[in-house]
Formats: sequence, structure tokens, C-alpha cells
Amino acid sequence: MPDSSAPIGVFDSGVGGLSVLQALRRALPQAQFVYVADSAHAPYGEKTAAFVQERSHAIARFLHERHGIAALVVACNTATAAAAESLRQAWADMPLVGVEPAIKPAARLSRTGHIGVMATRGTVGSARFARLLHDFGQGAHWHVRACDGLASAIENSTAASLLEDEKIRALCAHHTSALGQFGTEAGQIDTLVLGCTHYVFVRDTLQALLGPKVQLVDTGAAVARQTQRLLGWAPAASAAGGDALAPVAQIQLLTTGSLNALQMAAQRWLGLPLQCCAQVQVP
Ligand code: DGL
Repeated sequence: MPDSSAPIGVFDSGVGGLSVLQALRRALPQAQFVYVADSAHAPYGEKTAAFVQERSHAIARFLHERHGIAALVVACNTATAAAAESLRQAWADMPLVGVEPAIKPAARLSRTGHIGVMATRGTVGSARFARLLHDFGQGAHWHVRACDGLASAIENSTAASLLEDEKIRALCAHHTSALGQFGTEAGQIDTLVLGCTHYVFVRDTLQALLGPKVQLVDTGAAVARQTQRLLGWAPAASAAGGDALAPVAQIQLLTTGSLNALQMAAQRWLGLPLQCCAQVQVP
């Protein structure tokens, strides 16, 4: 069984994976976490699969060698699509959890059978995504959109609330209107998969645009449960009453890019203090 005093490593191209980290904190309040935002190289979604694979291995190596991690959570759909298999081969003994668009849960939830998927260009163009749709998406109509520019806009936003960021609102409107007609009538898209961990932070903007009846689906909680299962840890969150979060002292946030941007995101979205954050180099 993995060492329970060693931290769980989590990484993303930037701040998007903080949405997964929050779910992990809730599911594993006893765990230590070290998070890497590879913001110097974001966005991954508009880079080649080979580049994303190379960065993913560099970060996994850094987390393994410098932090002695017990497990790795790839909190990025794009990196999972490009690198999960090769990471598993390179670190065969280390439990690894990836993030994939929630195709199967969305197919179960949809009543109209029309489902939208928002993800990066790298994710929607991957063989892994094609396999997911083939294996779990049969019988539904899939409306898939590579949402260029959206992850970067979220990454770089300085607005106090993303709901008030006009550029983000315009990008969300542009991409969702390209997907089709949303609603609960026959032929309308009633379910939308958030297939990029950054998009979880614009959930309120999307819901406001699409109306309250459209269901938005992400994978943070499922990834956290899977991590708990893989580590063989008891579901401590429920034992502690369900609301416990891994405390600040157990969390370290690192970025290869702007320290200020990571601090802002951590404070705005997770309520974490500036002292949790530091800048690192991961060549
Ligand atoms: N957050 C990442 C994902 O889940 C990628 C965003 C990006 O860097 O393009 O796909």
C-alpha cells in the first residue's frame, strides 16, 4: 500500500486543476498535496501531443524525485489524453489517476439524447477521446466543440469574479452557440460536459447563458473517489461528517509561471492563503 505520509502529486497546465484539488481535499482530508501549475507552458490544449507528453513527464519526474509522491493525479484532460498511458508505463509502481470528459455519466443523465462537450483542441482530437465516445457514447447525439482561447482567458483573468469577466462571457457565448440549441425540448442539448478542468471555474457563467435546466457535468468528485479507492484509504470525509477539507498546512501549490496569478486563483477559488504558493522551475 502507498505511503500515507507522502503527498499526493497533482498537476495541470495551469490553475484549472485547482478544481480537482478542491474535490481531492474533500475526499481525502487527511492527505498532503503538492500541486504543480505548469503555467509557463499553458495552454496545453493548443500545443502538440508530443509537447504535452514531454511536459507531463518532466512534472511527474519532478514530483517523484523532489517530493516523493505516493500517487499522481493528472488534473488535466489534455495531459491525460496525451500522456496517461506513457506515464503509467514509466512509473508502473505509482498509482496514477487521470481526468477524462464525463461521457458515460452525461449519457446516463441526458433525457433528450443531445449532449454537448466543451474541451480543448488537444482533447477532442485525441484517440483516447474517440475511444471514450465509441465505448460509452453510442445511442446519443454528441455536439463537440474545441473551445480555443477559453482556458487561456480563465488562466489570465484578473477579474474579482469570473462571472464579471466580459471576455470570458463572450467566449462562453461564442462556443456554446456553436454547439447548438440548448434546452429540454426534443432535439435540444440538455446536458453539457465540461471536458477541461479550467471550465469548472466558469460554471456559473455557462449556467447563466444556458438556463437553469441544462445540466453541467464535470469529473472532479469522481476523480477524487477513484484516487481514494486506488490508495486504499477509507472514505475519511464521510467519517468526519462530509464537510472536512484537507487543511491549509497540508497543501503546497507550485507554479512554473506567474506566482501572482497562482496566488490570486488559489485565494479567489479555494480560499487558500498566499503562503501556500511558490514558484518553481521544472525544466
Ligand atoms: N485544464 C486542461 C484540461 O483539462 C487544459 C487547459 C489548457 O491548458 O489548454 O484540458
